[in-house]
Amino acid sequence: MVDAGLMFACFGCCCGHTTNGAARIARPATRRVFDAAGLQGKVRLAFSECLGPCSEANVVFLYLHGRPLWFRRINSLELFEALLAYVRAAVAAPGAPLPGQLTAHSFSWTGGGVGPELA
Ligand code: FES
Repeated sequence: MVDAGLMFACFGCCCGHTTNGAARIARPATRRVFDAAGLQGKVRLAFSECLGPCSEANVVFLYLHGRPLWFRRINSLELFEALLAYVRAAVAAPGAPLPGQLTAHSFSWTGGGVGPELA
């Protein structure tokens, strides 16, 4: 069976590092939260090098049911958990609308997305 989606959590030069003003996010904690979300076999999580929009760190790219979604300033595990809750809902109901909490973090970048384009 093919996974419904793929998530890239950026841990490049800026994301996850405080030296450039981003909130400190730890990869092991991010992995633990993902593993607890019950998405195994449905969505794959990968940690990536820089995805490009460094000014928006911490960046997560989600490709789900062929739909690209970009998220910026996912600056806490609580916010990442909210994103995972949306992913669970959208796996079951493709095209599910973003909740307001995540709409504020959604933007358009390479390949598409929902929300404002970066300047
Ligand atoms: S380091 Fe994450 S977008 Fe560049």
